[in-house]
Amino acid sequence: MIDPVLEVITRPAINSRIGELGNQISADYAGRSPILVAVLHGALPFLADLVRAIDIQIDVDFLALSRFGEGGRVRIAMDTLTSLEGRDVIIVEDIVDTGLTLNVLRRMIETRDVASLTTATLIDKASRRLVETPLEYRGFEVGDEFLLGYGMDWEGHFRNLPSIWTVLDLTAFSEDPAVLRRLALTEPGDRLIS
Ligand code: IMP
Repeated sequence: MIDPVLEVITRPAINSRIGELGNQISADYAGRSPILVAVLHGALPFLADLVRAIDIQIDVDFLALSRFGEGGRVRIAMDTLTSLEGRDVIIVEDIVDTGLTLNVLRRMIETRDVASLTTATLIDKASRRLVETPLEYRGFEVGDEFLLGYGMDWEGHFRNLPSIWTVLDLTAFSEDPAVLRRLALTEPGDRLIS
């Protein structure tokens, strides 16, 4: 039987790509002190690894969004503690899909008289974009597949998986979601094809 889930981005691949992004951000912001604003909850693992790959002085803060009303309008449910006025802001996202969320967030942050604004996302589902929105730092471009792990969730679960997985068979996965944790805890070389 084929497993209903598949690891698509391994831990070493994530580490190595984040290292490159960290170097790029360190070079681009040399002599400045940007503030990385992570969008909760999905961006948490990415932020934690990204900040340790950056070797210039930075600050970190967080915000959370919520959706309301028809059409899923976005508002800030939890704002940053730090004022963003005059700061070089880097929004840190786990995944950009249609781009609607990031587009609204960028416009909200731009009203705060920031010195500059860029976005770092680990995953870019570029082919799904409905609104164009600038994405200065991208970890991986993927197709139209549902991903989970490393911050991304399925019904609130699996954010703590160390690597990134996709669901091949949603029906089978919904019947036994624990299969993912069992597989994720197994070393890749030990995964049996049964
Ligand atoms: P967008 O507004 O369509 O770009 O959606 C962004 C949000 O959708 C992300 O911050 C995630 O919360 C969620 N999302 C989109 N694709 C996925 C996925 O493959 N796995 C988990 N969450 C996703």
